[in-house]
Amino acid sequence: MLENYVKVGDNVLIYFTNKKKWLVKVSTDAKFHTHLGYIELSSIIGKEYGASIKTSSGERLWILKPTIIDLICKAERKTQIVYPKDLGMIAAITGISSGSIVVEAGTGSGALTTFLANLVKPNGHVFSYEIRPEFIEIAKRNIDRAGLSDFVTIKLADAKKGFNEKNVDAVIIDLGDPWTLVREAWIALKGGGFIASISPTMNQVEKFVTELINTGFVNIESLELLLRNLEARTGMTRPSFRMVGHTAYLTFARKVFPERVERLNPIS
Ligand SMILES: C[S@@+](CC[C@H](N)C(=O)[O-])C[C@H]1O[C@@H](n2cnc3c(N)ncnc32)[C@H](O)[C@@H]1O
Repeated sequence: MLENYVKVGDNVLIYFTNKKKWLVKVSTDAKFHTHLGYIELSSIIGKEYGASIKTSSGERLWILKPTIIDLICKAERKTQIVYPKDLGMIAAITGISSGSIVVEAGTGSGALTTFLANLVKPNGHVFSYEIRPEFIEIAKRNIDRAGLSDFVTIKLADAKKGFNEKNVDAVIIDLGDPWTLVREAWIALKGGGFIASISPTMNQVEKFVTELINTGFVNIESLELLLRNLEARTGMTRPSFRMVGHTAYLTFARKVFPERVERLNPIS
């Protein structure tokens, strides 16, 4: 029960509207300023999540516990990140969940890493490969802010040179030439394990799928998710005028042991 009360050090979502909400770390001695006035952060310590607080100008703000998507959307970013709709589909199709061991290629800002770590905790782990040290620093800060550092190992390494992990549940690839990693992913995966890639263009999908077929993957599926929000109001509900036209194509497949490979890697 006490978990639902604000403590010092909590990340709290201060909510005004869907478009005006802030992620704030609670401390005993700071003011949080908005265009609606300020609040003393010490005054929300001990409040139950779901309660409200008035700003110095008398505006009511709501105190909510942030979800993993709130943490990801408010995170520092220097690369393109994976959008929430695509994150959800990756979780649904691969079945990555508590206890899963996942390899990720292309940590970037760590948005996908954070989401995966939240799925695999407390018994699983995410091993994430990144070649640019400056992105690793950003990703580490974001993952740490989400309280998920114990479930992630980031490696400064070229994923094309192969993964140290073996028998993993899933390999998720978010970089420009995913087809170059298919063979390495096959070696790292357990039989039946999932490979997934996130690619902005169709020619990337084609090259990736061709390599999947040639390497030993089945159940290959490529898709794009289009998300349309609704403006829901009594008597006048309609779709939003604005919509994100394109984020990425997702491709999924599962490792099998083709006959020629099975002799080298007996299943039983
Ligand atoms: C699109 S970003 C990944 C974004 C990340 N999925 C997120 O949600 O924040 C692609 C990343 O892959 C990294 N990268 C590119 N080639 C790589 C390689 N061969 N090995 C490891 N990382 C690589 C890039 O430096 C970049 O940070």
